[in-house]
Amino acid sequence: MAEHTVGGGRIELASLSKFYGTLKVLNSIDLVIEPGEFFSLLGPSGCGKTTTLRLIGGFEDIEHGSVRIDGADMRGVPPEKRPVNTVFQSYALFPHKTVADNVAFGLRFLDCSKEEAKRRVGEALELVRLNGYESRRPHQLSGGQQQRVALARSLVLRPKVLLLDEPLGALDAKLRRVLQVELRALHREVGITFVYVTHDQEEALTMSDRLAVMDSGVIRQVGSPREVYDEPANTYVADFLGLANLLPAVADASGVEVLGQRVQTATNGVSGNCYVVVRPERLRLVNAEAATLQGRIDHVVFAGALTHVHLTVRDQAMQAMVANGAEGPALVEDGEVGVEFLPDSLRVLPN
Ligand SMILES: Nc1ncnc2c1ncn2[C@@H]1O[C@H](COP(=O)(O)OP(=O)(O)OP(=O)(O)O)[C@@H](O)[C@H]1O
Ligand SMILES: [Mg+2]
Repeated sequence: MAEHTVGGGRIELASLSKFYGTLKVLNSIDLVIEPGEFFSLLGPSGCGKTTTLRLIGGFEDIEHGSVRIDGADMRGVPPEKRPVNTVFQSYALFPHKTVADNVAFGLRFLDCSKEEAKRRVGEALELVRLNGYESRRPHQLSGGQQQRVALARSLVLRPKVLLLDEPLGALDAKLRRVLQVELRALHREVGITFVYVTHDQEEALTMSDRLAVMDSGVIRQVGSPREVYDEPANTYVADFLGLANLLPAVADASGVEVLGQRVQTATNGVSGNCYVVVRPERLRLVNAEAATLQGRIDHVVFAGALTHVHLTVRDQAMQAMVANGAEGPALVEDGEVGVEFLPDSLRVLPN
């Protein structure tokens, strides 16, 4: 499949804004996506993910700021002249065409012989593991198979950038997970840039090389999954990604005071009133008598490999995740437990 490995596919958004009437739905976005990256746009409904994709794909006019692909300014360039293809959430296959004809559809606009078209359709179907399905029609396929046809239909055109707008949104949870793994493998195989839109944080964390966390038309943080999870830049990102205990605190040069406890920790230049975030899996529970800080256990929820503990510490609701089978204090509802903050388990964030 070496032919599918295309160089390029660098996307550069600079001061990109978008208005619908007077409503500003994108507010001066700056972002560089490197060639061959699996990059996700993650954020709640209405934050501007689809709008960003539509600007890159050419389905919205660029009026404020710029979109460049491999250095070329895309202002005024129609979708079919961009080295980009889009896979939408509703994959809208032609119901009366066969799988092969659905995949071949875009090739009719290219200067491409019949034999060449047949070969490329075969390759694209092989990429999504649907060879043998050429003569079926969409209603004879499962939802996951239909989505793979939609992917093949885009890949057959050999774009440098593939835009994917919640492509797995219509599928059930189990099939979603299967296709997540397949999409990741497909990305490695074709080597092109994927820009993936999702509001599912777990999906974005497991699939992406890097991601942007968006909020009402702005990007709140860009980084690798580990960076945005372990080192959130602000309380929005800390709260949006995974479970987080967000606790009011006061910082000085050498640490923080949180829930009456002094903890020596890096403060990243933050001082005065601030927040600390502690991931539930990093909160340490010990025997009540062994600790200076105690909490009351409200609920204990068994979740397979982990136990999810809801507790109240100095009127503050908190959560902890404890690995089952590990040594630790008894976790009894309405019982007391000791709570410890380890220095590297806290992250200090500005107010
Ligand atoms: N054609 C339009 N006219 C007016 N407002 C629009 C239009 N398209 C989108 N919007 C608004 O722009 C904002 C961003 O929409 P967008 O579709 O980019 O959100 P999203 O992040 O993709 O959300 P979702 O996760 O629900 O798909 C929303 O407030 C939406 O209502
Ligand atoms: Mg959307």
